Amino acid sequence: MSIEKQSIHGQWSSRWIFILAATGSAVGLGNIWKFPYIAGENGGGAFVLVYLGCVALIGIPVMMAEILMGRRGRQSPINTMAYLADTEKTSRLWIGLGWMGVLAGFLILSYYSVIAGWAMAYVFRSASGAFVGQNAQQIGDMFAAFIGSPEKLLVWHSLFMLATMVVVARGVKEGLEKAVVSLMPLLFILLAVLIGYALSSGAFAEGFNFLFAADFGKVFYLCESVNGVETCRFTFGPILTAMGHAFFTLSLGMGAIMVYGSYMPKNVSIARATFWIAGADTLVALMAGLAIFPIVFANHLEPAAGPGLIFTTLPIAFGQMVGGRFFGSLFFILLVFAAWTSSISLIEPAVAWLVENRGLSRLRASMVAGIATWAVGILTIMSFSDWAFSFHFLGQKKSDGLFDVLDILTANIMLPLGGLLIAVYAGWVASRKLSRDELAMGDGPAYRLWYFVVRYISPLAVMVVLLNALGVFDSWLS
Ligand code: PHE
Repeated sequence: MSIEKQSIHGQWSSRWIFILAATGSAVGLGNIWKFPYIAGENGGGAFVLVYLGCVALIGIPVMMAEILMGRRGRQSPINTMAYLADTEKTSRLWIGLGWMGVLAGFLILSYYSVIAGWAMAYVFRSASGAFVGQNAQQIGDMFAAFIGSPEKLLVWHSLFMLATMVVVARGVKEGLEKAVVSLMPLLFILLAVLIGYALSSGAFAEGFNFLFAADFGKVFYLCESVNGVETCRFTFGPILTAMGHAFFTLSLGMGAIMVYGSYMPKNVSIARATFWIAGADTLVALMAGLAIFPIVFANHLEPAAGPGLIFTTLPIAFGQMVGGRFFGSLFFILLVFAAWTSSISLIEPAVAWLVENRGLSRLRASMVAGIATWAVGILTIMSFSDWAFSFHFLGQKKSDGLFDVLDILTANIMLPLGGLLIAVYAGWVASRKLSRDELAMGDGPAYRLWYFVVRYISPLAVMVVLLNALGVFDSWLS
């Protein structure tokens, strides 16, 4: 007997459209804006290696788990978990996983949209020739002045949220699909052009080494000199950041990929789709790194410049290269689109739920979720300006404003926790039959390997890193 359900929200037109949509969700600010700056802040090579390890050992298996649960449930993550509670006879407490995802998506989008707004503003700056002939110092000052103006950030943030709501309101086929099909390939080509520029910058080798030469000593030991005596201790901070980023960049742990999976046709191979998505996502991040770091070193800039990194490096390149105004505008346009295709997936779990349980139209649901997110985003805007206040949060070395708190809370805690619970659910709680049927790769070595990893390796790895971040093992390490 077939137990095939259909989603009331529709279904992707084909397997490639699913892959493109999920890649659209995965590839976003995380790859082009966040990856380079956190790699820069965390010392480069060794950090990148840990991140790649997390993608392979945790990201890929958890993504398969998340997609398969979504495709079986065919509803918003909250209702998918409720449906699974019935069909798999599991506790209804698991519905909380869906709720945590909705909350995480909401918090992430609130600041994501602010950053996407920066990229929108930079489209116009580039087109107007503002970068032409400017040196690194001038470009840096321009950025500082920009993010210190809350009113400007608010305008762009509002525009970006509006754009997100419009696409989400139009629904799966008309909205989400159309947006991704043409934009993703273009982004890829433009990154290649930028790497071409970076190759000619004179510091390509240095940039390359920074990203790929792993120096674990430099990254994982925190050294302080007290009264002239240098003491170093092992630190888990960068490992947590690398793992959190693996979840963030693959859109895992909050239901985005689950809800996309719920619109996935039955005959698509989840494993194959996952490899495409994770592969494309990783490639884009590494390409962004290769485009940015040579420019950083060629201009004697600071790799640890933080969230402003791409906004203070790439404009230098655009200001100098032939056709820079055009390429600069195009780059930021594509960055906005990459952010756009991610932001729709951040809000889709909430919107799908509002439609299912509150009987709202998609338009109304998008408005409710969008306006709430927009309002929270204002806090992030304030945190970049005068209103910024500082405090330490969970042992991170940075001490910055609310933006950092939101970032750490979501990327480093909520997403890994969500991913951990998904792995535990698929590996331990749900029946083996569920994953065997949905993954449809038989009971051979490939399935068994996945099952083993999702049962033991992924949850343990996440747990160890999370507990460490909370300082649970501190006394053993010192
Ligand atoms: N993966 C997106 C990016 O890298 C961000 C995102 C996180 C999207 C979580 C959906 C869910 O930009």
